[in-house]
Amino acid sequence: MKIELDVSYPSQKFKEGETYINVAPITPGCYTKSEIENLVQVLQSGHFTEGEWVRKLEKELARYVGVRFASMCNSGSSANLLALSALTSPLLGSRAIQPGDEIITAAVGFPTTINPIFQVGCVPVFVDVAISTHNPMAFTISNAITEKTKAIMIAHTLGNIWDVDVIKQICVENNLWLIEDGCDALGGEWDGKRVGSFGNLSTLSFYPAHHMTTGEGGMVFTDDAVLNASICRLFLVERIAQRFWKLVLAWAKRLPKLHRPYLKKIFWVLKCIRQGLVPC
Ligand SMILES: Cc1ncc(COP(=O)(O)O)c(C=O)c1O
Repeated sequence: MKIELDVSYPSQKFKEGETYINVAPITPGCYTKSEIENLVQVLQSGHFTEGEWVRKLEKELARYVGVRFASMCNSGSSANLLALSALTSPLLGSRAIQPGDEIITAAVGFPTTINPIFQVGCVPVFVDVAISTHNPMAFTISNAITEKTKAIMIAHTLGNIWDVDVIKQICVENNLWLIEDGCDALGGEWDGKRVGSFGNLSTLSFYPAHHMTTGEGGMVFTDDAVLNASICRLFLVERIAQRFWKLVLAWAKRLPKLHRPYLKKIFWVLKCIRQGLVPC
C-alpha cells in the first residue's frame, strides 16, 4: 500500500523569552514517514496492543539499554509499580521487600516514583535534592539509611543523571535494592553505560512528553532472571484474574486488548496476594 503523507514539522518555532510554553505543544507531530508507515502496518496487522511489534520493541530497547529483559506495560507509572512489586516476590526469599520496610526516595519528584512505595505497604523516606540537578545527594541518602531500609527508588530528574557510582556503592555496602526511574532520561549515559542499566530494576515512560512515545506506555527492565520471573508472575496474576474472575481486580498493567476497557493505574492485587486471595 502506498501512503502519501505530509510529515513536515510544525511551523511554529520555540523562541526563548517569547513563546509561551502553553502555546507550544509538548507533543508536536514530528514523526518520520517510515514511522507513520510502520504505524499503518500495525493497524493493518490487527495487533494494536501486544504483538510482534511490542516484542520487537522490548528486545531492541533491552539491547539499547544494555540489559537482558524488558517488559512493556501501559505507562511509566505502571512500570514503577511493577518494578517495586517485583521486589516483594516470595521468589526473593529473605531479600523480598516486606510491608513496613523503608524505601529512600527524593523529596521532590514525580508522584508515581513514590506512589508504589505506599502501594506495596512500605514507608517512603524522603531525602533532599541538590538545587542544580533536583536529584538526591549521596550524603542525604547515606544519612537516611536505617536498619529497616531495603531499597532506594529514585528518578533521574528531568534527564539529569544521578551520581551512579556513589549511589550504586551505597547500595552494595548496605545490601539495598536500587530502582531506577528512568522515565525522563531515555538515552542518558554515565561512564559509557545507558540509563536503564544502573538499577536492579529500571523503568521508562512512553507518554508523549518523553523522548519516545507509544501514546501511553512504559517499560520495566532488569538484567536479573529472578526479577524478570517475578515480573512475569505479576502479569500472569493479572491474566488469571481477568480471565477467570471476569473482574477488573487486576492492575491491568499489560497493554490493553481492544475489547477490554482501557484502565490505567487502577486497582492493584498485591493486598489480595498477601491475603492469599490470588493464586500466584
Ligand atoms: C520521573 C517520572 N516517573 C514516572 C512518570 C510516569 O510516567 P507515565 O506518565 O507514563 O505514567 C513520569 C511521567 O512524566 C516521570 O516524569
